[in-house]
Amino acid sequence: ISQTSSASSSSSNLSTSHFIGRKEDIVKAGRVTKLVNGCRDVLVVHHQGQLYAMDVRCYHSGGALQYGDIEEFNGRLCIVCPWHKYKITLAEGESLYQAVDDPTAKPLRTYWRSKGVKQRVHKVTEVNGDVYVMLNDSGEAIESDVYQTEKYRRASLKA
Ligand code: FES
Repeated sequence: ISQTSSASSSSSNLSTSHFIGRKEDIVKAGRVTKLVNGCRDVLVVHHQGQLYAMDVRCYHSGGALQYGDIEEFNGRLCIVCPWHKYKITLAEGESLYQAVDDPTAKPLRTYWRSKGVKQRVHKVTEVNGDVYVMLNDSGEAIESDVYQTEKYRRASLKA
């Protein structure tokens, strides 16, 4: 078993893992979306040899993250929501924003800071070329949970 995501807990339990697809297919596609356990739309991304999983709808307003570009900000890989360009770290689901340390300085110096975890990320495992997701069911509410209700799951995801 090779564990390929940093999300969620460290133990692997296949009984609560949900099959997503063959790794080779996910690598070829780059990203796939799947309704997991009948209750959660999850995006699985393959990028630079790593697999990541997170809620597919952006915590801000339900944007379709599967259409987002992947870019690095301060060395952190983020998916950039196609709707309003929020940056969400792939590994942790943290939302980043650009801050200014001294608004009077010329030129302005900006840097990226975290708003904290806003997007629920899930654990990905690979077993013999099959990729599974284990849902992160931590009790605490995370903002992207709002867009996992049936009402939003029925709506199509548009870029
Ligand atoms: Fe607004 Fe994603 S929906 S940034």
